[in-house]
Amino acid sequence: MDPATRQVVRDATPDEPAAVAALLADVYAAFRPRLSDDAWPRYLGEIVDVRSRLVDSQLIVADHDGLLVGTVALYPEATRSSLEHWPEGWASIRALAVRADARGLGVGRSLAVECIRRARLCGAKAIGLHTASFMTSATRLYRSLGFERRPDDDIEVGEMFIGRPLPPEFSWQAQAYWLDLA
Ligand SMILES: CC(C)(COP(=O)(O)OP(=O)(O)OC[C@H]1O[C@@H](n2cnc3c(N)ncnc32)[C@H](O)[C@@H]1OP(=O)(O)O)[C@@H](O)C(=O)NCCC(=O)NCCS
Repeated sequence: MDPATRQVVRDATPDEPAAVAALLADVYAAFRPRLSDDAWPRYLGEIVDVRSRLVDSQLIVADHDGLLVGTVALYPEATRSSLEHWPEGWASIRALAVRADARGLGVGRSLAVECIRRARLCGAKAIGLHTASFMTSATRLYRSLGFERRPDDDIEVGEMFIGRPLPPEFSWQAQAYWLDLA
């Protein structure tokens, strides 16, 4: 992919949710080995359920010369984000993904920066998100934008998706990060 070509971060159009769901399915397939057989369908099903998220979140996409290369969901009111428990008045970020062949070009950063811009516009006091220690690019990106750890809001992945902890070989923490906008 040519980094010099035009990249736009914008709201998804009404006919794009299916393409966004396909992009998310492709990207998150990399995490299949991290989940047990019973947790995986719930984990992936929740990630690709773009239409349900449209009710309470803004679906943002990165478009590179007309090609959908990345996406993120911003909840202006984080208490509306299912599975997580953020304080009132916070925004939250979910399901950030960039196509593998478009990485390292600043697309993920642009999507996250757009979320921060929009959250500030909405008057959010802070932004919360969950990631994982093995999502190394994402963790580095969030930290470079000023996000800090908030371990008290970590959630064990099985508890988050199927209501019980996964066996030790699959168990990991969805690690909480936050950015203070005050
Ligand atoms: C995380 C992700 C969205 C980053 O997208 P991206 O477009 O490659 O990111 P960018 O090019 O904007 O890079 C942003 C930062 O990520 C980090 N980064 C990017 N590529 C990296 C790599 N190969 N290794 C380590 N860090 C990397 C860097 O800190 C970079 O900052 P820099 O601009 O100072 O170098 C992408 O890797 C992805 O989709 N990963 C799989 C899904 C995922 O983990 N989502 C997050 C769930 S919480």
